[in-house]
Amino acid sequence: MSNQDNASGTGSPEPITAVDAPWHEVAAATDFTAGSMRGFVVGGRDVVVCHTKEGGWHALDNICTHGFVKMDEGRLRGVRLICPLHGASFDCRTGAVLGAPASKPLACWQVKVEGERVLVAPPTT
Ligand code: FES
Repeated sequence: MSNQDNASGTGSPEPITAVDAPWHEVAAATDFTAGSMRGFVVGGRDVVVCHTKEGGWHALDNICTHGFVKMDEGRLRGVRLICPLHGASFDCRTGAVLGAPASKPLACWQVKVEGERVLVAPPTT
C-alpha cells in the first residue's frame, strides 16, 4: 500500500518511516550558482548547503567547530569551506578538518537534488 492509497481513503494509515521522514526541502537548485553556498535552519539546526564548481552538492553543520560562527559567512574555494572568523577550513564533501585552528570535523548532512528541489536530512550519526 502506498501513501497515495491512504490519501484516497482506502486502507489503514501507513506509518511514515524514519527513512522517509527527515528530508526537508530548503531551496531551488536554481538559487545556487556553481561555487556558492547558502545557510538554512532545519529543525532548529543550522545547515549550510554547498554547490561546488565541479557540480557537487554537499551539506554540513553551519556552525564552526572551533567557535560559534556561521560557516556560510565564510568562503567556498573548490571543496574547501573556510571559516570567516579564524580561517579554519573543512572539506565540504566529508566535513574533515583541512586547516587549523579547528580540530573537530563538521557533521555532514544528507543532501539530494530532485528535479529543481534541494533537500537535506540531518546526519545519521
Ligand atoms: S570560529 Fe571558526 S576557526 Fe575559529
